[in-house]
Amino acid sequence: MKKLKIGLIGCGYMMKNHMNGVRTFDDVEVVAVADPRPERTKDMMEFTGATRSYTSHKELYENEDNLDAVYIAVEPTAHNGIEETAIQRGIPFMVEKPMTIDMAQGKAISDAVTAKGLVTSVGFQDRYLDIVSRTKAELEGMDVGMVYGSWIGGVPQVWWWMQKSTCGGQLLEQNIHLVDLLRYFFGEADSVYATCGRGLVNPSEFPDTLPKYDTDDFSTATFTFKSGVVANLMSGCFVQAGNQFPNGLNIIGRKQSICYTLRNNIVIKTADNQVKIDKANNNQAEHSRAFIDAIHSGDPTAVRSPYPDAFKSLLLADAANRSMESGSVIRL
Ligand SMILES: NC(=O)c1ccc[n+]([C@@H]2O[C@H](COP(=O)([O-])OP(=O)(O)OC[C@H]3O[C@@H](n4cnc5c(N)ncnc54)[C@H](O)[C@@H]3O)[C@@H](O)[C@H]2O)c1
Repeated sequence: MKKLKIGLIGCGYMMKNHMNGVRTFDDVEVVAVADPRPERTKDMMEFTGATRSYTSHKELYENEDNLDAVYIAVEPTAHNGIEETAIQRGIPFMVEKPMTIDMAQGKAISDAVTAKGLVTSVGFQDRYLDIVSRTKAELEGMDVGMVYGSWIGGVPQVWWWMQKSTCGGQLLEQNIHLVDLLRYFFGEADSVYATCGRGLVNPSEFPDTLPKYDTDDFSTATFTFKSGVVANLMSGCFVQAGNQFPNGLNIIGRKQSICYTLRNNIVIKTADNQVKIDKANNNQAEHSRAFIDAIHSGDPTAVRSPYPDAFKSLLLADAANRSMESGSVIRL
């Protein structure tokens, strides 16, 4: 099998996470890495065996003519031409969520990917969990009424997370994983109402080398789905370490319910039975495997979250943000 040559754009936390799996694949060679931070490119070269490094995606594209794919894991506001160039050159790409916070840019990329039939994948890693596949299979026979879920924790200490203008807010940046799972399980939504609050997190809690914290401390969003399911998702980043309940989704059916504890386990409950199933697969490696296999075969169907589908999750999270701003229900 041909060894695919890939380039990496952004060498931070999440790229390392992806490369944990990718660097074990026999059919992939990481040839080049890009990041303006030299300590990060150096570290990523050592980690992956890449031999060339660049300070930006532009330099990488200018100097690499034979890339079979790129992995993109940059800040939500740093997608300035990265995907557009890949599309222009016909290079398949894997990009981390949220793929942008500019919906016009996301739509243009989604449309261009569809028009070109390009293989793409977005970092909705939960879709590749064995316990999520099991949940999806169980849902076939369930009459679900309501879902309630949460992603409540602390403030991630990266500069771009501190402000809503650079991260998009917790719902769009982080809880979008659960927004996406709601779509994966229940189809498209037809409305969302969301509200949020601030004032618990004191901006002076963080080092003054970071931008001043100004994002929502918490929000709650109610989604109605065309299927009739109603779901509520809570997001919170005001909670101090150790003071947390498990996050995930509680899917409430008439005869059977499922509790999905984030990336950990599911509990399937009926009146006379309760089964707990722990996560047993390496979903991140399977995520990359599906993308790489799709490039080899030209058949994208194993990719569970191609860009155009993922863009619908992004639009839904953005609609929740618009509801928080306007105080109105947003009809989709
Ligand atoms: N799927 C998940 O579970 C998950 C988890 C964490 C983060 N993420 C997402 O991954 C993305 C990156 O997050 P992170 O935690 O790795 O952030 P990070 O800040 O650790 O890394 C981002 C890197 O991109 C680099 N960069 C920015 N512009 C660039 C450019 N033009 N060319 C090359 N490099 C560039 C930055 O210098 C930085 O090193 C975000 O969108 C985040 O939401 C996803």
